[in-house]
Amino acid sequence: MTVVDTPPAALREAPVPPDGMYEGPRVLRRLPDGWEERPYERFEVAPLGRVIGAEIRGLDLSRPLDPALREELNRALLEWKVLFFRGQHLTPEAQRQFARHWGELETNPLLAAGSSEDVVRFDKGSGATPTFENVWHADVTFRERPALGAVLQLREVPPVGGDTMWADMAAAYDNLPAEVKARIDGATAVHDFIPGFARFYGPERLAPFQETFPPVEHPVVRTHPETGRRMLFVNTSFTTRITGMERAESDRLLSFLCRQAHVPEYQVRFHWQPGDVAFWDNRATQHYAVNDYAPHRRVAERVAIEGDRPF
Ligand SMILES: [Fe+2]
Repeated sequence: MTVVDTPPAALREAPVPPDGMYEGPRVLRRLPDGWEERPYERFEVAPLGRVIGAEIRGLDLSRPLDPALREELNRALLEWKVLFFRGQHLTPEAQRQFARHWGELETNPLLAAGSSEDVVRFDKGSGATPTFENVWHADVTFRERPALGAVLQLREVPPVGGDTMWADMAAAYDNLPAEVKARIDGATAVHDFIPGFARFYGPERLAPFQETFPPVEHPVVRTHPETGRRMLFVNTSFTTRITGMERAESDRLLSFLCRQAHVPEYQVRFHWQPGDVAFWDNRATQHYAVNDYAPHRRVAERVAIEGDRPF
């Protein structure tokens, strides 16, 4: 890992807006540049928000996915960033099969696997297992190649609560003040699993993970490999500092950038029923699992798809 000692001029001393929340109109651009609205032939799209989140109706995900349908779903994923499929009740194998149309499945040694190595089970609320998914984050950005996306199915849903929220990080980038965009253009940041995961393990269990996952640098603004959109790519769970910047200034700027995921206009919130499936683009979004349902149980199973190196 290279650490730049002298920050570029644009990263020095420029002011950060005080709290990141602006009044007034926001730029809410759902489609990438050059894309036009095109109808979907194979399913119905019911938007849940202006820029992010759509329910896909008329599909049974346990059925084989032909190439044309896979392409149409991929277009919907790129346009809406997170897709919801109601009442699917997929077997773990069907969930895996569906996800494999987007790439190899990721295994994550930091998370206890559920029904298999690549299906991670989150069983929360009723027992002693604490939940820490209620912080805005993208998954596994501490990896050199963070996940492309994930397919999550809810098996058991609490009587009330347990929603998940997602935020569109292209919208977050679009709305940054010009002076902030200038400061972070070309900047990189360090990502490390320690802030997100240290609480789960003692130092002796952490040590081997630290060898597997040393800190990595990613661009603060990443370009989507399929749409070319610029997206803010720092998050509270894993981004520890902006490369080459004084600690205090890095903390201040990072805190401002991470807070952009909190802006309601960039978000969608999904209320689960058992068997519902969400498929999100982890390159373009952050998510937050609302922790409001204890002592009731919430059981989710997730498979993640391997991604590429952010640029
Ligand atoms: Fe997550």
